[in-house]
Amino acid sequence: MDRFENKIALITGSSQGIGAACALRLAKDGCDIILNGHKFDERGEKLIKEIQDMGRKATFLEADLSKANAATKLITDAVAVFGHLDILVNNAGVEKKASFWEVTEEDYDLIMNTNLKGVFFSIQSFVNYCRKSKVAGTIINMSSVHEEIAFPHFAAYCTSKGGLKMLTRNLASELAQFNIRINNVAPGAVSTPINQNLLNNKEQLEKVLQNIPLKRMGKAEDVAAVVAFLASDDAAYVTGSTYYVDGGLTYHYEEQ
Ligand code: NAI
Repeated sequence: MDRFENKIALITGSSQGIGAACALRLAKDGCDIILNGHKFDERGEKLIKEIQDMGRKATFLEADLSKANAATKLITDAVAVFGHLDILVNNAGVEKKASFWEVTEEDYDLIMNTNLKGVFFSIQSFVNYCRKSKVAGTIINMSSVHEEIAFPHFAAYCTSKGGLKMLTRNLASELAQFNIRINNVAPGAVSTPINQNLLNNKEQLEKVLQNIPLKRMGKAEDVAAVVAFLASDDAAYVTGSTYYVDGGLTYHYEEQ
């Protein structure tokens, strides 16, 4: 029997990068998939085909998750597609580099609204659905090692991911009574379009790798494997946690 027999997952921000890898991995393990992004384009089209070729159902819903009402509506629309929803992966996220004293209100709002506010209200909408329909839902938030460790010149991003840490801790307590589990996955440095500048800069990349005990960048598939575990019944007793997928970066100690 497939790990996710008769299960349906919504993965936000899944046209590329970690979200796309999560969609493919969950589909491989037997899940039907609802993809999301700002706009449906050839990447979404290709993913739908790949998922259908695995014998699973797939569709794409457009939504700008920096807006609370769009995040709420996305859940209602997702439930309507296949009549059911079991797994919510809040993956969509943005980051912008700026020294703290130069962060604009516009950039602060974009980062906080996408990485935290949209996630907050998509979870609220999903929880309302689960309670009404008596679904034992599972939520996975794509956090970051920066829910825990500092990242100078990314203050708004760290603030948003730090908020996600406490949101998950808090909701694990509040939602357990409905049999809803919620966990964070915290990637380290993963080779995706969000890190294109780093990947193009050999010198900077070398410095980053020095701080990673496993001495390589993560792959989107490394992250997706942990998401699949947390979404599955293998993690039935796991809630309110953060799983680091960082090659050892977060708690790395450089011996002198
Ligand atoms: P990415 O930039 O390749 O993908 C992010 C996706 O989210 C894109 O498809 C983008 O269109 C979508 N998105 C952004 N804002 C959106 C909005 N308002 N509405 C709908 N979709 C939106 O980035 P990547 O690397 O795949 O990141 C995915 C998640 O993982 C993010 O939350 C990011 O913060 C987190 N992460 C990534 C790390 C990395 O090294 N790549 C490290 C730590 C965390």
